[in-house]
Amino acid sequence: MSAAGWEEPWGPPGGFAKRVLVTGGAGFIASHMIVSLVEDYPNYMIINLDKLDYCASLKNLETISNKQNYKFIQGDICDSHFVKLLFETEKIDIVLHFAAQTHVDLSFVRAFEFTYVNVYGTHVLVSAAHEARVEKFIYVSTDEVYGGSLDKEFDESSPKQPTNPYASSKAAAECFVQSYWERYKFPVVITRSSNVYGPHQYPEKVIPKFISLLQHNRKCCIHGSGLQTRNFLYATDVVEAFLTVLKKGKPGEIYNIGTNFEMSVVQLAKELIQLIKETNSESEMENWVDYVNDRPTNDMRYPMKSEKIHGLGWRPKVPWKEGIKKTSKLSINHFGVKSGKCKGKTTYFQNIIQTSGILC
Ligand SMILES: NC(=O)c1ccc[n+]([C@@H]2O[C@H](COP(=O)([O-])OP(=O)(O)OC[C@H]3O[C@@H](n4cnc5c(N)ncnc54)[C@H](O)[C@@H]3O)[C@@H](O)[C@H]2O)c1
Repeated sequence: MSAAGWEEPWGPPGGFAKRVLVTGGAGFIASHMIVSLVEDYPNYMIINLDKLDYCASLKNLETISNKQNYKFIQGDICDSHFVKLLFETEKIDIVLHFAAQTHVDLSFVRAFEFTYVNVYGTHVLVSAAHEARVEKFIYVSTDEVYGGSLDKEFDESSPKQPTNPYASSKAAAECFVQSYWERYKFPVVITRSSNVYGPHQYPEKVIPKFISLLQHNRKCCIHGSGLQTRNFLYATDVVEAFLTVLKKGKPGEIYNIGTNFEMSVVQLAKELIQLIKETNSESEMENWVDYVNDRPTNDMRYPMKSEKIHGLGWRPKVPWKEGIKKTSKLSINHFGVKSGKCKGKTTYFQNIIQTSGILC
């Protein structure tokens, strides 16, 4: 789809210029994507397909849920009959595929579930999209497919060397998606982004988990030495990156979405302690940190070049200090974890808060 295609005028009366399917739209990143699309592109119908897994929340979409150009459909990307029917009935033009099992720690204990959803589910979706002659299929992948590196920067042609079941499933799914370009010239685009943070992220991921632990007067539990570093991008910046790829990304291409902003997990914990516990004292900060057993594998860094997407005009804009301030206002009540309404969520969340070790 060309930039001009994206800006197309209204379609037939009562119709929409394009119909965009976003999978995993009740999750963290895709909910930010949907809010942006629904608000800024009223001539596009945005269809959110989500199974509503433990980490999903329709509260992420409250501001747009009554808009005429938005529709939510609960369903599973692994259900091939349902997915085929969805493409037939909804006349989808564009797919943004975010739905996945996403928590690395969990992938060590539920590896087959990750393979099923992330690989099989993606295959089902790309196959149905191809059959339905969709114009553009964006597959949202991760920098973790490269595996770790201390100093060699990865570019899009670097080999995939994933070191955990989550990253392996994302890498395998990329191969299926890419094969539709190689075999049929079906217009797929793959993105590989750094860690994303911002409001509405489920508190199993490092930033909301540390925030939640500190809000509960519990220590930030750090895997291993905590010297492993991560690059963090604010949610609205990645949304801008996906919009850029939608408008200008070339079919068959891969785009890294990275940032030079990088910090160690220990440094991250200390920044959050300063912000939430309002202390600058090193000894007081140490009291809020607990070192626990490391993951079975834990990559040190994911240094990545993003010149290709810079060439399309995208750069991250939100400074860390601004993004983290907005994020630290996050409330865990958002996910209903305190209400006792959803027993499964409460139990899983209590695990995160109360245990040390693999899920900590
Ligand atoms: N969060 C990050 O830092 C990051 C970084 C790089 C790439 N990614 C990728 O971005 C995407 C979104 O990540 P996130 O952190 O927002 O995820 P998330 O865990 O917050 O949300 C995932 C969503 O997918 C839905 N889902 C899961 N299985 C499904 C199924 N079988 N059918 C339909 N829906 C299903 C869940 O209900 C949930 O709403 C993922 O593909 C992830 O690999 C995330």
